[in-house]
Amino acid sequence: WERIDGKPIRQRLLVVANRLPVSAVRRGEETWSLEISAGGLVSALLGVKEFEARWIGWAGVNVPDEAGQKALTKALAEKRCIPVFLDEETVHQYYNGYCNNILWPLFHYLGLPQEDRLATTRSFQSQFAAYKKANKMFADVVNKHYEEGDVVWCHDYHLMFLPKCLKDHNRNMKVGWFLHTPFPSSEIHRTLPSRTDLLRAVLHADLVGFHTYDYARHFVSACTRILGLEGTPEGVEDQGRLTRVAAFPIGIDSERFIRALEVPQVQEHIKELKERFAGKKVMLGVDRLDMIKGIPQKILAFEKFLEENSYWCDKVVLLQIAVPTRTDVPEYQKLTSQVHEIVGRINGKFGTLIGVPIHHLDRSLDFHALCAVYAVTDVALVTSLRDGMNLVSYEFVACQDSKKGVLILSEASTANSLILKVVCDDLAIEK
Ligand code: G6P
Repeated sequence: WERIDGKPIRQRLLVVANRLPVSAVRRGEETWSLEISAGGLVSALLGVKEFEARWIGWAGVNVPDEAGQKALTKALAEKRCIPVFLDEETVHQYYNGYCNNILWPLFHYLGLPQEDRLATTRSFQSQFAAYKKANKMFADVVNKHYEEGDVVWCHDYHLMFLPKCLKDHNRNMKVGWFLHTPFPSSEIHRTLPSRTDLLRAVLHADLVGFHTYDYARHFVSACTRILGLEGTPEGVEDQGRLTRVAAFPIGIDSERFIRALEVPQVQEHIKELKERFAGKKVMLGVDRLDMIKGIPQKILAFEKFLEENSYWCDKVVLLQIAVPTRTDVPEYQKLTSQVHEIVGRINGKFGTLIGVPIHHLDRSLDFHALCAVYAVTDVALVTSLRDGMNLVSYEFVACQDSKKGVLILSEASTANSLILKVVCDDLAIEK
């Protein structure tokens, strides 16, 4: 609650993210169905309950016609969501191009695509222009729905220009910006042609948040080394104006997972899975099919394990849930083919008439099915090459009821040990 002109008003939170928590699928001219979106950002933010929140973002679909837009806006309003309609070309340049082909790999230390190294290349410039244009489109929707006293919380690498657009329009708006990916070392950020514009735009926010102290430290050092500004223990100072910078590691709503395990339908599913995999140890990977998740590396390591330990060949199974993502980006298409090829080869090599060692699914599971799979898993494998904050590790731990499964985390898959401890404490698991 906040007081405005002496009157207490309930403070609203406007969450602005590229993707809404639901993605729309068109079923008819004016009929839409809504499905939960994949990814850590959505999982984490669904746990925010203290505020009266509205979510502003893209519904993941191109809606060129007015009737369709109207119908979708109405369907989304029931979920407290407000759509930003992006045309196909903007999505191509801003989302597939600048966000997912440039910023995402760079922030995960995979470098810039070869053809984008020169700031002068046409593709880079048009993608960056589309990025700014898209951020302005998000700002227009926020400005339209903003009410005095609202707090605007901008999310992720898609919307680094948004704090600037919002503050240019209304200096009194309270604006936060949170990054769900790593923020790389300033030496990496330096290689980005638009490095200064992005940093300056983010600094318009009042508060800038990261998952870890290291990401926050990298951001502050990028501002001091690239922009020549002053870093203070609270954040970054520019001509007497302070932008606060801090670490706020996200977690999960572990109670939601613990409660799900008690649902009869989940119990039933657990029983079926136990029968299905009786006599075998179950290893599990749950990832978006993204190059940062180390999926080929995980599967190749599993192959090496089978090669070196033939005793285990018919006693272990790897379930890999690989949720398709950013399927219009060529790098992701190549990765999908690569994973399919490796899985096919390994199953051909070690499979028998009775079964195969790898069960690979190119889709997500619904929440209850996922909880059941976590509950029967003996070993969860989180093998990210880099990750902003990996939530699968928390979800798996939350679903260890009486059984104590093993969680194997690669060194680079950030999972906050303090949060893992809180999840374990909730479950009274000691180690
Ligand atoms: C990561 C990003 C999110 C993104 C999610 C799914 O978690 O940090 O911003 O929403 O991946 O990716 P997508 O491109 O499908 O939104």
